[in-house]
Formats: sequence, C-alpha cells, structure tokens
Amino acid sequence: MSGSLHVVGHPLIQHKLTHMRRKETETRDFRRLVREIAMLLAYEVTRDRPLTMVEIETPVQKMRAPTLAGKPICLVSVLRAGNGILDGMLEILPSASVGHIGLYRDPETLAAVEYYCKLPEDVASRDVLILDPMLATGHSAVAAVSRVKQSGASSIKYVCILAAPEGVKEMHASHPDVPIFTAAQDSHLNDHGYIVPGLGDAGDRLFGTK
Ligand code: URA
Repeated sequence: MSGSLHVVGHPLIQHKLTHMRRKETETRDFRRLVREIAMLLAYEVTRDRPLTMVEIETPVQKMRAPTLAGKPICLVSVLRAGNGILDGMLEILPSASVGHIGLYRDPETLAAVEYYCKLPEDVASRDVLILDPMLATGHSAVAAVSRVKQSGASSIKYVCILAAPEGVKEMHASHPDVPIFTAAQDSHLNDHGYIVPGLGDAGDRLFGTK
C-alpha cells in the first residue's frame, strides 16, 4: 500500500489559506480562518460517508429521504494547534465524540513526546479523524496515528492545513493505510523543522502566544 494524499484545491480554501499565511494576519483573523478552512475540509473529508434512506413526512407528503449512516465519527485533536481545526469540524459534525493527544516536539531531536492522551472509550468502533494543522516532519503525526491504532481504531484519516513533503513521506512509510487531507503541500522543511514557505508556528498564531 502506498498511501494517499488529497490536496483540497477548492478556491475558497486556497483564498483563506493565503490570508492565513500573511505575516500581518492577526490572531483573531487567523483563528477564524482556521475554523472556516476546517469546516470546508470537513465537507471534503466526509464525502465518502454512507447514506441510508428513511421515511419522513414533509408538510406536503411522505417521502423517503437520505440520512447519514455508518460508524459514528471521533475527532482527535493533536494539542494544541489541533484545537483550532477541532472548533470548525465540530460546527459541521456536532455529534462527533472528541479525543485529545498532547505531543510536543523535542527541540533538539524534533521527536514527538507524548504528555497527554484521552480518547473516547468506544474509539475502536468509530471513524477517526486526526486533526493537526501542520504536517511537518511527520513525527507527531505518526505518533498520534500509532496511539489511535493502539486503542483499537482502524478507520483513520489525517486532516491538516499545510503539509511538507517530508511529513507526507514519513506518514506514507509508517501508516500507508491512513489517507491525508490537506489544503496545500509546501516546498520543504527548514533546519528548525518549520514548513517553507508555510505560515509560521500555527499554535502561536492561533493562541497569540508570541
Ligand atoms: N509546526 C508549526 O506550527 N509550523 C511549522 O511550520 C511546522 C510545525
């Protein structure tokens, strides 16, 4: 299995992403843009959800109408920047359960270190969407997916806003069964593990911490 990458090139997403990237974009606008892009990505990422027909009654007459079926969804936010995407996804998928995985990057080795994990008890029977805006080295993405797989889940998609080729390669090597959805794939990582041209530190820009 070689792994799949879906770059969602919808004009609305691309326009909003350009605003996010601008260095002068303030925290409140950055936050709103992440939420809006997440809502649009939710649309794409759920395109293959099954439907079932149910009997309903409109004010005019009875009819059979489509409604969502299939496994319930679990959204897993990779702390802390994943919470920005989570907010937008929950607007579109309000019944989803939510898990959190806390990972930080060791500044020397760039390895992912887990400091927190809380997943719904029934995560194994759900379709899981793992959320983190930046797929950079891929270390935390691989660790987050491994953690979710350990809990028994097997239907997993990874959703980000920007991906580096290095991270995509790492994910495809470790988890070729997990499709990646992103708004764009950038050029490369710099020596500090930042995506180039990128948008800077997504967590800092979301939460105004720098
Ligand atoms: N995390 C970020 O927030 N930005 C990057 O460019 C890479 C990882």
